Amino acid sequence: MVDLSVDLGPLSLTSPLVAACGTFGSVVEFARVADLSLYGAAVAKSVSEEPWEGRPPPRVAPTEVGMLNGIGIQNPGIHAWSSEIGPRLPGLDVPVWGSAVGTTSDEFARVAKGLESAGVGAVEVNLSCPNLEGESMFALDPSASARVVDAVRSSVGIPVGAKLSPNAEDIVAIARSVADAGADFVTLTNTIWGAAIDPETRRPRLSGVIGGYSGSAIKPIALRCVIEVHRELPHLPIVGCGGVRTGDDVVEYLLAGASAVAIGTAHFEHPGIAKSISHRVAELARHHEVARVSELTGMMEPW
Ligand SMILES: Cc1cc2nc3c(=O)[nH]c(=O)nc-3n(C[C@H](O)[C@H](O)[C@H](O)COP(=O)(O)O)c2cc1C
Repeated sequence: MVDLSVDLGPLSLTSPLVAACGTFGSVVEFARVADLSLYGAAVAKSVSEEPWEGRPPPRVAPTEVGMLNGIGIQNPGIHAWSSEIGPRLPGLDVPVWGSAVGTTSDEFARVAKGLESAGVGAVEVNLSCPNLEGESMFALDPSASARVVDAVRSSVGIPVGAKLSPNAEDIVAIARSVADAGADFVTLTNTIWGAAIDPETRRPRLSGVIGGYSGSAIKPIALRCVIEVHRELPHLPIVGCGGVRTGDDVVEYLLAGASAVAIGTAHFEHPGIAKSISHRVAELARHHEVARVSELTGMMEPW
């Protein structure tokens, strides 16, 4: 019997599998279609301080491989989220993490505090948002990212993760600065910028023109980020995320240096996909003759 439990900094997870933010609703809805007990944690859709309406349709577009989304983080705001979702969290068969978004570091901190009060087990800071205090998205700027993590860290007692962007020029610099600011783990990575145009109507396939590209095709990019960050910051716990569809993908991320691995877009195709993934992870652990899957973290062999 393979032991699937893993440690992610201060968090102990019963499985390395994490349901990625924005692909598992508020988690509550997925209790009917997925076996939540197969996940070590599930991240609820990002929440802001005030309600965000999101972008007008079209907001999602399938591509040859994977999908584009430009939803604009539609959410009801932390107040409504806490009263609607908070009371339902204890009944779920999985630890739920919250995801905070904001346009200033103080806003992030207030949302994180609200998520903690609502009962989430950890908060992931979604740094892929416009920074109203600076020039670009937080996730592209090491000091802006650190300011957000520092503000969140000071406002909550639960573990804090920073979700980084593959669009960052130097992912290691961002990871180092959020770790120095007190992040307990990093999630690598969010979607990568992409676009598509309908050649007949000549219109972009997303109302916002440019959106987030996800699915199998981004796996090599996110995996490269995990390798780079683990190589330079071997003690920083990592959740690998991007293009996971199989147990083989999960083991690749573990070998690259991740301690846990998130499933995202694959949930839209098959909400119950964690079952086959979990089965294959255990099979590969047996193949490698390890008693715990956590023993595979960072164990990529050199040529
Ligand atoms: C429709 C959709 C909505 C998403 N919403 C969020 C979100 O609100 N917050 C967040 O941090 N990431 C969000 N993500 C990004 C995913 O959590 C994940 O990082 C990304 O999709 C890469 O993983 P994948 O290739 O397995 O989907 C979203 C992704 C998709 C496809």
